[in-house]
Amino acid sequence: MRIGHIQLANRLFAAPMAGVTDRPFRQLCKRLGAGYAVSEMVTSRRELWTSLKTSRRTDHEGEAAPIAVQIAGTDAAMMAEATRYNLERGAEIIDINMGCPAKKVCNRWAGSALMRDEALALEIVEAVVAACAPHGAPVTLKMRTGWCDTEKNAVRIARAAEAAGVAMIAVHGRTREQGYRGEAEYDTIAAVKRAVSVPVVANGDIDSPAKAREVFERTGADAIMIGRAAQGRPWIFREIAHFLATGQTAPAATVADVRGWLLEHLDDHYRLYGEVAGVRSARKHIGWTLRGLPGGERFRGEMNAIDTCRAQWRAVADWFAELADRCPVMPATMPSDRPAVRPAALPACH
Ligand SMILES: Cc1cc2nc3c(=O)[nH]c(=O)nc-3n(C[C@H](O)[C@H](O)[C@H](O)COP(=O)(O)O)c2cc1C
Repeated sequence: MRIGHIQLANRLFAAPMAGVTDRPFRQLCKRLGAGYAVSEMVTSRRELWTSLKTSRRTDHEGEAAPIAVQIAGTDAAMMAEATRYNLERGAEIIDINMGCPAKKVCNRWAGSALMRDEALALEIVEAVVAACAPHGAPVTLKMRTGWCDTEKNAVRIARAAEAAGVAMIAVHGRTREQGYRGEAEYDTIAAVKRAVSVPVVANGDIDSPAKAREVFERTGADAIMIGRAAQGRPWIFREIAHFLATGQTAPAATVADVRGWLLEHLDDHYRLYGEVAGVRSARKHIGWTLRGLPGGERFRGEMNAIDTCRAQWRAVADWFAELADRCPVMPATMPSDRPAVRPAALPACH
C-alpha cells in the first residue's frame, strides 16, 4: 500500500479524531499495528497556529514516519498556506478534512459541509495539491458518503479529486446529516473504489477483526481506517492484522501487556501536555481502557480526584497490577461507546 511515493507498513489506519489522536496516541497505535495514523485536524486559521492547542498538534518530534497532517478550512488560499506551514513543520502527507460533521471555521462550516459545495471543495483540493507539489508531498482526502441521503456525491467528488491530483481517498460510510447516527454503509465506499484508481480507504463502525475482513470484502478497499474502536483499545490493530494474516483470532492481550502500554502512553502524554493538562486529558484514555473491566467504573471515579501526573501514573500502575493477579487476560472485545456495539463474550473472571 502506497500513498503517492510513500510506502506504508500495512493497510490498517488509525482515523483522525480531534482530542484523541494526538502524537502519543498515534505513536501507540503505530507500535500496536497501525500502518498509518493521521493527525488531529489543524485549522487553516493562521491566528490560531500559535495557540497551545495547535502548536501541540503541529509538533511531530520523534513521530514515526510517515507524518500525515489533516487540515481543515473553507478558503483555498488559507488551506494552501496551512499546507505550507505544516510541510515546513515536518508533515510528509497533507490530508484535507471533508469528513468532520461539526466544525465551524471562519463562520462557515468546514469538514463534511464542503461536500455540499463541490466547486469550493475542488478549489481547495487544487490549491492544496499545488502547495504540496514543490515538496513532492502527496495530498489525501477524507470525506463522507455525501451531504444527506438524497445527495450522496462521494463518487463525483472522488473522481474530481483524483483528476486534481489527490493520491488517496478515505470515506466514512455515513452522510454529513447522519452525524454518527445509524450504521455505516459500505456500498458507496465500494462505488468510490470502482470509480477511481488511487487507493481508497474504508471507514466507519469497524470494531472487530471479523468486521475488518467483512469491510475489505464488501468494499474492495485498499485499506481500512479505525476510529472509536481504537479508543482505549489500540491493540485492535494487531488483533486485526493477526486475523487477516492467519484467519485465526489472536490470543487475547494480557492485563500485564495493557498495563505496560497504558503506562508508556501516559509517560508520552505527560511529556507533551505537562502536569496540569496532562493529568486531565489522560483521564479519558484511562477511562476508555477501563471500560468493561471488573471494578473499572469505581476506579475511574476515584481516579478523577487525582490531580498530579505522578499520582495518576502510580494509581494506574497499582490498579492494573492488582487486576493482573485476579484476571490475567483482557476481555476479547471491549464495550464501545456506541450502544449498537456491546461486549462479546467476556472471560470467566467477569
Ligand atoms: C472524537 C472524534 C473526533 C473526530 N475528529 C475528526 C477529525 O478531526 N477529522 C476527521 O476527518 N474525522 C474526525 N472524526 C471522524 C473519524 O475520523 C471517523 O471517520 C469516524 O469516527 C468513523 O469511524 P469509526 O466508526 O471507526 O469511529 C472524529 C471522530 C470522533 C469520534
